Amino acid sequence: MQQGIAPKGVQDSQRPGPSISIVSTMAQSGSFWAVFVVVAILGVAAANAQLSPTFYATKCPGAVAKSAEVVRTWILKDRSMAPALLRLHFHDCFVRGCDASVLLDSTIANSGEKDADGNKNSLRGFEIIDDVKAKIEALCPGVVSCADILALAARDAMQVFGGLNYTVPLGRRDGVSSFAWEANNNLPPPFADWTKLMSIFSTKGLSSKDLVVLSGAHTVGFTRCSTIQSRLYNFSTTIPTDPTLDPSFVPLLKSRCKFGSSGIVMMDLSKTTDTWDFNYYSNVLKGRSLFQSDDALKRTTEGLKLVQAENKAGGPFSADFAASMIKMGNIQVLTGTSGQIRKKCRVVNA
Ligand code: HEM
Ligand SMILES: *[C@@H]1O[C@H](CO)[C@@H](O)[C@H](O)[C@H]1NC(C)=O
Ligand SMILES: *[C@@H]1O[C@H](CO)[C@@H](O)[C@H](O)[C@H]1NC(C)=O
Repeated sequence: MQQGIAPKGVQDSQRPGPSISIVSTMAQSGSFWAVFVVVAILGVAAANAQLSPTFYATKCPGAVAKSAEVVRTWILKDRSMAPALLRLHFHDCFVRGCDASVLLDSTIANSGEKDADGNKNSLRGFEIIDDVKAKIEALCPGVVSCADILALAARDAMQVFGGLNYTVPLGRRDGVSSFAWEANNNLPPPFADWTKLMSIFSTKGLSSKDLVVLSGAHTVGFTRCSTIQSRLYNFSTTIPTDPTLDPSFVPLLKSRCKFGSSGIVMMDLSKTTDTWDFNYYSNVLKGRSLFQSDDALKRTTEGLKLVQAENKAGGPFSADFAASMIKMGNIQVLTGTSGQIRKKCRVVNA
């Protein structure tokens, strides 16, 4: 089938996110043109006002409740899918905005976001999104976008999981392109340092506080042992285990992830049952977080302050998290007549 899932040249002009407007003043002067190019980068915040929690109130009044109902059934069967759905929305939003591009099946082998390094054999929950979409389509065909379903499902799942409850702004539309290379460039890798993390987050209009707060999502969910294998066993040619890990924590982690293990491990090992809490931040402070990108948060004065602020009983974490999720959900959204409302989340409309 066709590459990129999209007619080339359409997607960029339709995108209202951070846009580049080129105002060129051309003045003829002798034999040359003087061209003054003014490049204005509009902040992603500009798109915020376009989303609204009541977007479907008249267009499809049952949609929000239907998502909650369907997601609830899935999460009651398998709680571990809640963190997976939270991550799916994050990986959607960081790559060409929250446009459900992460859901498109590759039309040429390995060309789409699903097949990018950070996604392949790692992202989970696609079948839940398909189910929610099918049931909402049965209510109101062609009205509710896959991008909005991702945003709703993340919230709905974490509400059933326990600990999160916020109202989701709606009105996103679906994109028509998905590229693995864009995901590889825009998803933060687990070995990223503060500078790298901030360069990615700030490009999305997110602050250092958003970075620290949203990283708190790693208080839930699982990672594959393969993702932390080199940190545990092959850190450098001379040092086998990352010295920033708490030495008294290393034996536990190594027992859960033996060398060469293809298993998975809970990201917050301070508890036996996966729950929503602020333990992530004490793990970071103690050297008990699983990724270098987690550890990196405390390695700048600014980051350390933010980590300490979230590490408080009765503290701001869940409210801050909800606020940052809403900001993340606004990244480069397609609205109005941009993009489309996909009939099936895995393919663009014919
Ligand atoms: C700040 C940079 C981030 C990095 C470098 C990062 C990296 C990762 C990695 C490597 C994994 C494990 C993947 C695997 O082994 O298969 C993971 C899992 C996860 N991440 Fe992040 N992540 C980041 C930010 C976020 C954000 C912003 C969210 C959500 C708001 C999030 C939510 C999750 C969740 C919930 C899981 C567990 C998924 C599951 O259980 O299936 N992460 N992350
Ligand atoms: C979530 O918040 C809404 C609005 O504040 C409230 O009506 C609802 O009962 C809450 N749901 C849960 C599960 O706490
Ligand atoms: C990685 O670590 C394992 C276990 O410590 C060791 O057997 C192996 O030789 C290391 N590989 C490299 C390439 O250093």
